[in-house]
Amino acid sequence: MVPNFQIHSKEDYHRIYEQSRLDPEGFWKRIAEEFYWQKKWDKTLEWNFDAPEIKWFAGGKLNITENCIDRHLADKSDQPAIIWEPNNPSENTRTISYKELHNDVCKFAWVLQKNGVKKGDRVLIYMGMVPELAMALLACARIGAIHSVVFGGFSAQSISDRLHDAKSEFIITQDGTYRGAKVIPLKPTMDDALVNCDFVKKVFVLARTNNPVSMIRDRDVWLEEELSGVSEEDFPAEIMDAEDPLFILYTSGSTGKPKGVVHTTAGYMVWTAYSFSNVFQYQPGEIHFCTADIGWITGHSYIVYGPLCMGATSLMFEGIPTYPDAGRFWEIVEKHQVNILYTAPTAIRSLMAFDKNHIHRNNLDSLRVLGTVGEPINEEAWQWYFKNIGKEECPVVDTWWQTETGGILISNLADITPAIPTMATLPLPGVFPLLVDESGKEIAADSEKTVSGNLCIRFPWPGMLRTTWGDHERCRTNYFATYPGLYFTGDGAMRDPQGNYRITGRVDDVLNVSGHRIGTAEVENAINMHTGVTESAVVGYPHDIKGQGIYAYVIFNHLHVDEEVTRRDLLETVTRVIGPIAKPDKIQFVSGLPKTRSGKIMRRILRKIAEGETENLGDTTTLLDPQIVEEIVKGKM
Ligand code: WT7
Repeated sequence: MVPNFQIHSKEDYHRIYEQSRLDPEGFWKRIAEEFYWQKKWDKTLEWNFDAPEIKWFAGGKLNITENCIDRHLADKSDQPAIIWEPNNPSENTRTISYKELHNDVCKFAWVLQKNGVKKGDRVLIYMGMVPELAMALLACARIGAIHSVVFGGFSAQSISDRLHDAKSEFIITQDGTYRGAKVIPLKPTMDDALVNCDFVKKVFVLARTNNPVSMIRDRDVWLEEELSGVSEEDFPAEIMDAEDPLFILYTSGSTGKPKGVVHTTAGYMVWTAYSFSNVFQYQPGEIHFCTADIGWITGHSYIVYGPLCMGATSLMFEGIPTYPDAGRFWEIVEKHQVNILYTAPTAIRSLMAFDKNHIHRNNLDSLRVLGTVGEPINEEAWQWYFKNIGKEECPVVDTWWQTETGGILISNLADITPAIPTMATLPLPGVFPLLVDESGKEIAADSEKTVSGNLCIRFPWPGMLRTTWGDHERCRTNYFATYPGLYFTGDGAMRDPQGNYRITGRVDDVLNVSGHRIGTAEVENAINMHTGVTESAVVGYPHDIKGQGIYAYVIFNHLHVDEEVTRRDLLETVTRVIGPIAKPDKIQFVSGLPKTRSGKIMRRILRKIAEGETENLGDTTTLLDPQIVEEIVKGKM
C-alpha cells in the first residue's frame, strides 16, 4: 500500500487546484492522511511569514523511514528499492530490495547508536554515490539524527565551515570515490577539514576505492567492521515530532557563506512524495533514474525520500554521463529499462554536442517520462531531449524548485497538463505563486499579454524551509523581508495569459553554473584570500554548456609576475577554498572597478561587459572614475 493522491487528468488538475485554493488546510489534511503516523497531528497548519514561523501537522508523531521502508515490507519486500550502477560499467550492479534496505538501514542505525549518536545530533555526510550514502541518510533519520550532506566536490575548507556551523560531532565518509577515469580522495580531504575540529567524536569510513587513508585511533572507524558486529534485528524507529528537523543542506546566497537550509520531518515527507507521484506520474514497478548527486537537494528529494515513500525503484548512478563515453546514460537506460529519466539542462547540452551514434546504439523504448531541473532549459536543448531521447513520445517535465522549497513547486504533470518548451508551466495544487514588481506590488493577471516580475509564493506549502541553521534572522531577511508577507524565491519569471510560468533565472547575486548554485560573494571572498589580490568582482555570463560561466575581474597588486601563472594560482585558491565547481571560467586583471561615489561596485556594467556588450552600458556618469570602464572593455577576455 502506498500513498494515493495522484491526479489523473487535466480536468482533475484544475478541479483539485481550485479545491486547494479554497480550503488549503482541508486539502493537506487529506493528503497527509495517506501516510503512516504513529500519532495523528492536532493542527494542520499554523503560520506567519513575518517571523517567519511555519508549523505543519503540529503534534503529529512519525518517522520518515517507516514511510520509506517499513510500510512497503508487507507487499514489496522483494521489490528493488535501490538499483545501483557503478562508475565502471564492468563492475557489478547492486540491487537492494526493500527487505534488504530495511535490514541495512537498521544495522547502520545500530552502529550509529552504539557509537553515541542520539536524536537531534548533527551528522555530516561526505561520500560518493554509493548505496551506503542513501542508507546513511536513512539511518540518521531512523534514529532521529539530523543529516547534513556535503557534496563530494567541496573542499576541506567548505567541510570545515559546515562542521563548525552545525557543530556536527559525527561524520560518515568514504576513503575515496570513482568519478570517470579518476579516483577522488574523500577521507584525505576530510582529514584536512578536521585539523581544527576537535569536537568531532567519531568518523565512520566506508572502504570503496582503497586509496591510502590514515585512521586516527579511537576517532576513526571502518564502517564495514562496525556493521559486522551489530544486531540483525529491527531498529525501532525513533518517534519524531512532525516539526523535528530532518536535515540541513547548505546552499549559497547572495551574501556571505552558504546557509544551512533546515527541512523538517512531516512536511518534507509529504511534499517529496506528493510531488514525485504527481509530476512524474509514477506507476508501480517503474524504474526512476534521477541523475543528480545526493549531495544536492535533487538527490535528497528525488533519489531517496520521494521515490522510497512511494515504494518506487530508484536508480542510483555513481559515475558521470561521459564515462566511458557520452553514451553512458543511454546504456544505463537500456540496461535497467529505465522509465523515468530526470536530469539537468547542462547534462543535456553537453551530451548534445556528441555524435548521435551514442544514442542510436541503445534502445530507449522503456522511457515514459523525461524530466529537467536546476536551471532554465533553452529551446534547443528541450527539443533535442524531446526528439532524440524521448522520440517525441515522452512528455518533458520542466520542474522548477529550490533547495529551500524541498521539492517541485511549478511543473507540468507528465501527460496530464501540457508540456510547453522552456516553460515550467503551472503550480502544483497547494502552491500559490505570484509576480511582483520591484516595489513589491503584485503584477495582476493579464488575459492579453505575458507579464514578468519577481517570483514569490503567498502561502506556505508543507515542504518549505523552516529556518536557516543557527540564524533564524538570516532566514527572515533572505526570504521573507524583501516583500513583507511573501516568500521571495530570488528568481525572475514571466507568466503568459493562461497562467504558465517561465522561470528566467536569478535576479540576485547568485549564479547557476551547470545547475550548481554559487554565490558571487563566495567566489570573491575566495579570490580575495590570495595575497596578491586587492579587490575583485565576480559576475555571471551566458555559457553554451554550463548555462552560466563565472567571470572574475581582479585587481592584482603586483602584476609583473606572469599573468598565466597568476591565473592558475587564483584557480587553485578558489578550488582550495570552495571546490573546483566555483573556479572562474575567465579572469580579467584590471586596475580598478567601476564604483559609485559611495563606493558600491556597479555590477550591472560588469555583467554587461562580461556578456559581450560594449556599447550600451547605461549611465556611467555617476561613476567615481568613468575612465575605468573603457579600460575594462578593452581588456575583455
Ligand atoms: C535555483 C535553485 C531545484 C533543485 C536543483 C537546484 C534554478 C531550478 C529550474 C527550472 C529554471 C530553475 C532557479 C532556482 N532552477 N529549476 N526548472 N527552470 N530555473 O536547486 O541549487 O537550490 O537552485 O535553480 O534559479 O532558484 P538550487
